[in-house]
Amino acid sequence: MPLSDAKAVTSVRPEDGRTVVEVELGFPAGRYGAELAAALQAAIAATPGAGPAEVRVGWQVRPQAVQGGLQPLPGISNVIAVASGKGGVGKSTTAVNLALALALEGARVGLLDADIYGPSQPRMMGLQGERPVTRDGRRLEPLEAHGVRVMSIGFLIEEEQPMVWRGPMVTQALTQLLSDTNWGELDYLVVDMPPGTGDIQLTLSQRVPVSGAVIVTTPQDIALLDARKGLRMFQKVAIPVLGVIENMSTHVCSKCGHEEPVFGAGGGARMAEQYGVALLGQLPLDIRIREETDAGRPTVVADPDGPVGRAYLEAARRTAARLSIPGYAAPRITVEDT
Ligand SMILES: Nc1ncnc2c1ncn2[C@@H]1O[C@H](COP(=O)(O)OP(=O)(O)OP(=O)(O)O)[C@@H](O)[C@H]1O
Ligand SMILES: [Mg+2]
Repeated sequence: MPLSDAKAVTSVRPEDGRTVVEVELGFPAGRYGAELAAALQAAIAATPGAGPAEVRVGWQVRPQAVQGGLQPLPGISNVIAVASGKGGVGKSTTAVNLALALALEGARVGLLDADIYGPSQPRMMGLQGERPVTRDGRRLEPLEAHGVRVMSIGFLIEEEQPMVWRGPMVTQALTQLLSDTNWGELDYLVVDMPPGTGDIQLTLSQRVPVSGAVIVTTPQDIALLDARKGLRMFQKVAIPVLGVIENMSTHVCSKCGHEEPVFGAGGGARMAEQYGVALLGQLPLDIRIREETDAGRPTVVADPDGPVGRAYLEAARRTAARLSIPGYAAPRITVEDT
């Protein structure tokens, strides 16, 4: 989208013999801002007659609307749900890297592990065995790693203890993790959703005020079928779907560099096109993603400037940029039971 359409160019004026251009983005750009400013400056320099210019890029995250009937959470500007219909496609890996990417760009970020039966975030954030404390006797302080505040049921139970709870208890536990945590001020709270589109997910998406959802899928048809259900669930409850992230797109052999689409090619793009939503990113099936994330230092922390780290940063930027322009994500669709 042209910056002018995004209403991001806030001023163009002469100053000491050069043109000063000010740009304000609606998404965090602590790192990206300099890159964009340099690109714009080069473009202006290459324009005949434009003269010398200085481009300043700033940013500010604003709260976006939530689904009807719900109040936004105090202090939390935007809740982003990361979901899929199917298990094991990489929701948690994607959620943690997106959260870390937004934080690396300078945003205040929280990560809520909504997977009560199979919490992953304590391990992925390198916080295994840690316990949250309370300062006011009412709310839990979130734990913090790599600049992101985290809450998970995994901090309150032993790692190998199974959760043998029925739906209503799980929903209750989640609501408490969300509202009884002292998150402080956040630009984004990323929610790592459990797999599926059952009762719990529906309750979640109806009770938690969410500004946008990201659907994670692998390229093969069977996962896509499930991802479609996940996508349609959000559309039903009128949460804008910001787009699709295709995970395990291709496999790059760590020995010879040969790249192969083991799970088929182009599935995420087809799904995005069919539902009129964006393809936010494509992440390879790469052994380093698993090693780094499972070891508590996800790729965005371990190697932010490598190809995979950059792909996560770019996907996070697209996600936050789409969110920042109301109505630019997929249209809100409300389906009512009759
Ligand atoms: N692009 C990738 N390349 C290599 N390994 C990956 C990739 N994405 C995820 N993994 C690995 O696959 C496993 C499953 O990923 P993850 O836990 O993120 O999936 P999930 O969708 O959250 O699963 P669940 O449905 O159980 O919550 C993890 O061990 C993770 O490290
Ligand atoms: Mg998970």
